[in-house]
Amino acid sequence: MTEKTIIRFENVTKKYDQDTVLNKVSFEIERGKFYTLLGPSGCGKTTILRLIAGFIEPTEGNIYFNGKVINNVPADKRQVNTVFQDYALFPHLNVFENVAFGLRIKKMKKADIAEKVKEALRFVNLAGYEEREISEMSGGQRQRVAIARAIVNEPEILLLDEPLSALDLKLRTEMQYELRELQRRLGITFIFVTHDQEEALAMSDEIFVLNEGEIQQSGTPIDIYDEPINRFVADFIGESNIVPGRMIRDFLAEFAGQQFECVDRGFSPNETVEIIIRPEDLEMTEPEQGNLVIKIDSQLFRGVHYEISGYDQAGNEWLVHSTKRAAVGDSVGLRFDPEAIHVMRFGETEEEFDRRLEGYGQNGTAAAEGERQ
Ligand SMILES: Nc1ncnc2c1ncn2[C@@H]1O[C@H](COP(=O)(O)OP(=O)(O)OP(=O)(O)O)[C@@H](O)[C@H]1O
Ligand SMILES: [Mg+2]
Repeated sequence: MTEKTIIRFENVTKKYDQDTVLNKVSFEIERGKFYTLLGPSGCGKTTILRLIAGFIEPTEGNIYFNGKVINNVPADKRQVNTVFQDYALFPHLNVFENVAFGLRIKKMKKADIAEKVKEALRFVNLAGYEEREISEMSGGQRQRVAIARAIVNEPEILLLDEPLSALDLKLRTEMQYELRELQRRLGITFIFVTHDQEEALAMSDEIFVLNEGEIQQSGTPIDIYDEPINRFVADFIGESNIVPGRMIRDFLAEFAGQQFECVDRGFSPNETVEIIIRPEDLEMTEPEQGNLVIKIDSQLFRGVHYEISGYDQAGNEWLVHSTKRAAVGDSVGLRFDPEAIHVMRFGETEEEFDRRLEGYGQNGTAAAEGERQ
């Protein structure tokens, strides 16, 4: 734990009756950064937010805030505010009164309230909307009122539970940008929840990928995209080709019945592995120029690129993103660089992955990978 650590979970377990919904979750949140909890429905994202906010208590383990255990500290004594998925605004109050609500409860002076509300509304680009009724605001504007209501209390941490899921794609993209900017300007810690991997990659300093009540991987968007730790993360973060293979020795992998140079090391000789290659890292070529040859099975136009899929001779399916088109039934080559090949130990856990990284030497790409920890 460093001085920058604001929240720390230490083996936090949450059970409802005998159901374990969070299992020994540990992580650290640093002050002033944008964090995202990413995972499928029911994996425990909202449960983590509720534990941080103080709406529920852990069954086992400890939650620290600025170095002190806060397991039993009630919600209203925490420097945390939440923006809920449905915004939970008061429909009978206008914009000003919605934002002022928390300050009135604190019995702040009228003039101070007016000033703080004005400032919060200016922050979310809603200056001049004070008198509007909530029912007269659009979805995106309501979302900004909800954020103004949370930041007016000057929390140290802002929790945002899927705040953009109700918006259409265009507005959502705009709000992603605005939220990110807002976090930078305010400099407070944001913990944002989403099940949308593109949103997580675009917005976060750090992402925690969750599945079934456990953190699968944590890291920067680039770490997680480029070096997924297991099949779940690779699959969940963007489309991937995942094929079975083995590591013949350091820097030499075998898959699809052929051998390929790669940049991975630290496996036992002939260890069974899974190979990941991103669709955008595959280039379509004439058959004789490819590292692999596939027979095209389907092709879809996706606006910016064609999504092409086909099978190699060993029966593996490959997905390719290409600006070139091809025809179903054609044989084409696939070319890729050694760096495009990512090797995962079969069913490897995060601890096993960490241990493997520690075992790496000073030279080679492995040392650089180790720095991300
Ligand atoms: N009060 C409760 N009593 C019993 N089970 C609960 C309770 N609250 C949540 N759960 C269960 O805990 C698990 C995690 O729920 P949680 O709300 O954290 O999921 P989530 O990741 O936020 O999902 P979503 O993306 O659908 O919002 C779910 O299986 C849910 O049914
Ligand atoms: Mg939820």
